[in-house]
Amino acid sequence: PRLPVWVAIAALLAPVIGSSGPADAAPTRVGSGVVGAQTAGDTLFPHQGNGGYDVEHYQLRIRWSTSRAISATATITATTTQQPLTTYSFDLEGLTVTAVSVDGDPARFSRVASGDRHKLVVTPARPVSGRFTTTVTYSGTPAAHTDPDGSQEGWVDTGSGATSGVVALNEPVGAMTWFPNNNTPRDKATFSTTVTVPYSAAAGSQNRTVVGNGVLSETSRSSTTQSFTWDQPRQQATYLSFVGIGPYVAAESDVPLTDGTTHEYSYRDSALSAATSGFTAARGRLGEILTAIEGHYGTYPGSSTGVVVDRVPSGVSYALETQDRPFFPSQIDEPTLVHELAHQWFGDSVSPADWGDVWLNEGPATFVETEVGAELDGGKGTQDTYYDTWRSSSTASLWSVPAAGFDDPSELFGEQVYTRGAVALEALRSALGDDVFEDVMTTWLRTYGGRSATTAQFIAVAEQVSGQDLDAFFQTWVYGTRKPAAWPVAYDLT
Ligand code: ARG
Ligand code: ZN
Repeated sequence: PRLPVWVAIAALLAPVIGSSGPADAAPTRVGSGVVGAQTAGDTLFPHQGNGGYDVEHYQLRIRWSTSRAISATATITATTTQQPLTTYSFDLEGLTVTAVSVDGDPARFSRVASGDRHKLVVTPARPVSGRFTTTVTYSGTPAAHTDPDGSQEGWVDTGSGATSGVVALNEPVGAMTWFPNNNTPRDKATFSTTVTVPYSAAAGSQNRTVVGNGVLSETSRSSTTQSFTWDQPRQQATYLSFVGIGPYVAAESDVPLTDGTTHEYSYRDSALSAATSGFTAARGRLGEILTAIEGHYGTYPGSSTGVVVDRVPSGVSYALETQDRPFFPSQIDEPTLVHELAHQWFGDSVSPADWGDVWLNEGPATFVETEVGAELDGGKGTQDTYYDTWRSSSTASLWSVPAAGFDDPSELFGEQVYTRGAVALEALRSALGDDVFEDVMTTWLRTYGGRSATTAQFIAVAEQVSGQDLDAFFQTWVYGTRKPAAWPVAYDLT
């Protein structure tokens, strides 16, 4: 991956500023080998991610007990991008690592826990080149991670006592609270996750079950445990990986799409009512909403569908577009359902290469929420909504902070990402016309589906598809720090 300029500069300064901070960003040659960077060079989360390899597959086996402790193994298959790789790292916050092996041989390992840097550093017995497999054995009691904006993410407890459970909500960096990984949205991989939970025949429907991404490929039961394996065969960013453990009520169906069907696995915490949580209504609308989005943006990119509605502690009041199976805190409302389903195309299929590109997730999801919401319910459409937002809003933060390229991580989920991102897309639609706009969006999804991409790549697609020079447009609507003076194409104001 192309490293930002500051990474290169930091590498030059490394001997001067020592080993903390971005100094260890660049790969270093040691003798005849390479030490992988301890960062992917993200602009907002500069300590996240690791260099020297690209992950192909995560196989996770997690045993969870009602004491909240886990014991686990992560088997991570990756390919070197620099070789011979003598030392490399994964992101892992907290927990105790007891053994690491590489291609079957014991490896040396150490931990870094300093400020925002949480690493497991691995030195294999012999340098690796090409494809290699790391097995990490670890245990402990995972703790949630507090984001720069104060919200909680990662391994989050949902209750206590007889109905205790967990949800793993990992945007942006929470995945490192429960498994070692390359925690950057630019390194996507397939996943297979097996979770074993306690079981007792006497507990009946209060027994916990486990939900994850993709398809439920295997379940098994002993007299004291139950295991669930969820397979994600499609490329998935670590921040979209999901595990839920709780006394769930499960529901399955085959949901009709434009072409064929996709399997639904939905889960509701048994303490929440099917009616008042919106669970029944949401399940009933999945086919209609997915088909409506397909009508604009093409084939549903997921491996399956469904919703999860669970209790949440305070600090976790958000819904999340966990891949295939969005998560909702206690309640599902229709606009949010449309929003999280739209993310399956925008965010989950095409992921941001850098957290500073998050408007490419939230802009389209917010835009589609309005667009498809209006079609299904006759609500106010995108044209009126976002024109009005532009015209009437003088909210300073909406225009003074750019949608892309802002530098404060606490603004990751700010209004400039959601509202301004959607306003920018409506402005683009109004400038290019419906057909060209949808052509831009579907070309974007076709070109980068299953991968990660940047705002510059989005602009390049828009220019190539429309045949127009859009530099000034994006400078004004996405990168600018002032309210744009005029709407691109005059609206009928009467
Ligand atoms: N991406 C989610 C959504 O808009 C929001 C996630 C908020 N995350 C957080 N840690 N506050 O659907
Ligand atoms: Zn969103």
